[in-house]
Amino acid sequence: MTRRDFVRSVGYYGSTAATGAMIALDLLGKSKAAAAEPPVSPVDQFGGKRPPRVLILGAGLCGMSAAYELGKLGFQCEIFEARPRSGGRCWTVRGGDRQTEVGGSAQTARFADGFYMNPGPARIPGHHASTLGYCRELGVPVEVFNNVNESAYYLVNGLERVRIREARVDLRGYVDELLAKAVRRDALDRPLTADDKEALIEYLRDDGGLSPDLFYKPTPDRANLSHASESRGYVYDDLPAAGAHPGRMGDPLNFETVIKAGFGRHLSFEHQFDQQPTMFQPVGGMDQIAKAFEKRVGAAIRFQTEVREIRRLPDGGVRLVVADLLEGTTREVEGDYCICTIPLSVLRDIPADFSPKTTDAIRQVPYMDVGKIGLQFRRRFWEEDDRIYGGISWTDQNITQIFYPNYGYLGSNGGVMIGYYHFADDAKKIGRLSPAEREAHALLQGGKIHPQFQAEFQHSFSVAWQRIPYNLGGWATWDETMRASLYPILNEPDGPFHLAGEHLTYLGGWMAGAFESAKAVVKTIRETVAAKAA
Ligand code: ALA
Repeated sequence: MTRRDFVRSVGYYGSTAATGAMIALDLLGKSKAAAAEPPVSPVDQFGGKRPPRVLILGAGLCGMSAAYELGKLGFQCEIFEARPRSGGRCWTVRGGDRQTEVGGSAQTARFADGFYMNPGPARIPGHHASTLGYCRELGVPVEVFNNVNESAYYLVNGLERVRIREARVDLRGYVDELLAKAVRRDALDRPLTADDKEALIEYLRDDGGLSPDLFYKPTPDRANLSHASESRGYVYDDLPAAGAHPGRMGDPLNFETVIKAGFGRHLSFEHQFDQQPTMFQPVGGMDQIAKAFEKRVGAAIRFQTEVREIRRLPDGGVRLVVADLLEGTTREVEGDYCICTIPLSVLRDIPADFSPKTTDAIRQVPYMDVGKIGLQFRRRFWEEDDRIYGGISWTDQNITQIFYPNYGYLGSNGGVMIGYYHFADDAKKIGRLSPAEREAHALLQGGKIHPQFQAEFQHSFSVAWQRIPYNLGGWATWDETMRASLYPILNEPDGPFHLAGEHLTYLGGWMAGAFESAKAVVKTIRETVAAKAA
């Protein structure tokens, strides 16, 4: 899968700038409104009637934040959650945690105390104001997530691994060289004045570290150090030191190698709006966000309660049939409204009284296969040997990428890294393997980037989201046609039913999508109730 496919699949292609701005504006609007609004008693708000009862399906971030916001407004909420834990995909796996996948393969994590992996969301962009706003409001401490590390590696096209900074500087240098020469020869298809040409060449010379005669040939000549050499840096086994150790600069890769390697594919990643620094993670695991919500709304959550039927009452309300998985019993629950955050991949198999067009739309939206594996090593060799602290190494093997841990730096008892994070066909193929086979695969391919893998490895825990019960996929994948046809249908209330979740936003595959969707349905329900009370 290409980066572009990935970006499209999470649904933010072409819309991210606008979405980010909307979030920021919305948040500003919300805080101003909250400051200005006098408290209203629930009874006044609901025209003297009892508070409306909202049945929420799923105690993920969308369901819990909806309950949290509705609670502030005096609504009564009850949340039905099939799992024994809250958070949904906002999940952190620590030693002792278990998971059985569809198909029966079961795992128990054996990570050491203090180590964890986030199989779902792992990073928060700085412009996801709803996510960071809730971290602030609920007191969840965050730390920086290093998404980009120039010291990490590329391993592509069967080449030797290279440091990202070396690939970047070489690629830019050669491309700038070509462009500068084309400008000098008037080979551009746009007219430039002599001054414009010189200004452009000056920029390219600087950007690419080109020589005065416009060649990319980094020189390690200390008296006349080129910008490119400085950026490419030193080889790690001969860094500047005391005495007779000025350090040794590496030689650039040759032009053909750089072009054939396709580094640009990976380099464009960090320029995406949603992947740029500064990014964050909660201290101690992503589930700290879920736990903070659970602290506020936990009393309303019915755990291990599976939704079996979603029915419409003649008076406009909702009736659910839910199963208590511990007791092995079923019961019925009635409410005025229903916020359904169940992923469409699961919802399509639950008998429900949705309208025919909603039912049809639910069936059609595909979900992305996504896999991650956590690998515990007894030694932080990526730090000690490779001097990599956080960030991502990329490869064109189907493990796709390795995430180094952004916590526990310099620790002396090892750590847990993400040994693969992949999507679509790669995830489907590896997800079909047993956990032991996935582990062997991750060690084999990752071992080509880090030969230390075999000697230092201890335990793994892998997740194939398409095989995780109650998820059956990583995230919804929208193409432009479905965005135009199905997306509006699923975002409209269907009588008392309000579908919600990251899948119904332009922030697909992000926690911010869950929060923004929750805010949107809370607003709609609040307005509906207000209109009825008027
Ligand atoms: N938001 C997810 C990521 O950053 C898809 O990987």
